[in-house]
Amino acid sequence: TWTMVNIVEEQIEKIRDQIGDRGQAICGLSGGVDSAVAAAIVQRAIGDRLTCVYVDHGLMRQGETEQVERDFVAATGVDLKVVDAEKQFLDALAGVSDPEEKRKVIGREFIRVFEAAEREILADAVLGEDGDKVAFLVQGTLYPDVVESGGGAGASNIKSHHNVGGLPDDLQFELVEPLRELFKDEVRLMGEQLGLPAEIVWRQPFPGPGLGIRIIGEVNRERLDILRQADAIAREELTKAGLDREIWQFPVVLLADVRSVGVQGDGRTYGHPVVLRPVTSEDAMTADWARLPYDVLETISTRITNEVAEINRVTVDITSKPPGTIEWE
Ligand code: XMP
Repeated sequence: TWTMVNIVEEQIEKIRDQIGDRGQAICGLSGGVDSAVAAAIVQRAIGDRLTCVYVDHGLMRQGETEQVERDFVAATGVDLKVVDAEKQFLDALAGVSDPEEKRKVIGREFIRVFEAAEREILADAVLGEDGDKVAFLVQGTLYPDVVESGGGAGASNIKSHHNVGGLPDDLQFELVEPLRELFKDEVRLMGEQLGLPAEIVWRQPFPGPGLGIRIIGEVNRERLDILRQADAIAREELTKAGLDREIWQFPVVLLADVRSVGVQGDGRTYGHPVVLRPVTSEDAMTADWARLPYDVLETISTRITNEVAEINRVTVDITSKPPGTIEWE
């Protein structure tokens, strides 16, 4: 719309004012809408002085990495560095089944990989014309995040939590937060205005640790592939039913350590159950289990058990939050 054009242009102008001709900017892309819109705005403001980093930890859903690598880049012309770190993450996750331990491992590896990418990008960075050594870190912080953290991080305290070894001592990091004054729905509209892929603009919230916390038990490549197939079917059918925007999130959870007996064709199978966890919510603090139409559930169940050989049982989670959380881990 007319006003959205103005908001986009206004934000681009603001970023130009902040960064000017000083230094390089880096933005981590998660596959979600916030980081994508933040990056697209900064790209429009300073072009190739922005480098985006996408850490492929191997825990994404089907198609998500391609959406960033191919579609987002095609839509924005962003300079993107993709780090294929699947092996590093899966090696680190081997033998880990405790939920909080998984989060710790994934968070730790993420910082390692991201900082290594930062070092590489900034090693040959052209710094500010006036000799200022400054690197800008772009973040998709929204207004509700700013309020929640009591004013937000701001440029002044970034150094404390952003001390990347191996960079020049006098290099200063400065935060760039183009979405600081905006709500999620405004960010989505901006994403549309900027011509970003619809899958990214309208993506439901997805946790940072990805499918790592949707496999109950140890995480490995084989289990991830099974879950990815089931999850893709569930999402496809939800979209087909036109329910994407009504449903807040739709986790599919693989009970990898549980086996259940089934019968398929002439044979008895001993496979795994998955749990469908569709919820409605306003802000993820509380949630209600979503009453998906029976015919949608039926199609999902039939397709998953027909198309994913290792899964022979589909269940639906009918617990609200509280007492249940949205995720199973
Ligand atoms: P729960 O499961 O606590 O989730 O009801 C509330 C919201 O937070 C998301 N979530 C996470 N997001 N890292 C994230 O970035 C995490 O470790 C994590 N755990 C849960 C969840 O998807 C829901 O939107």
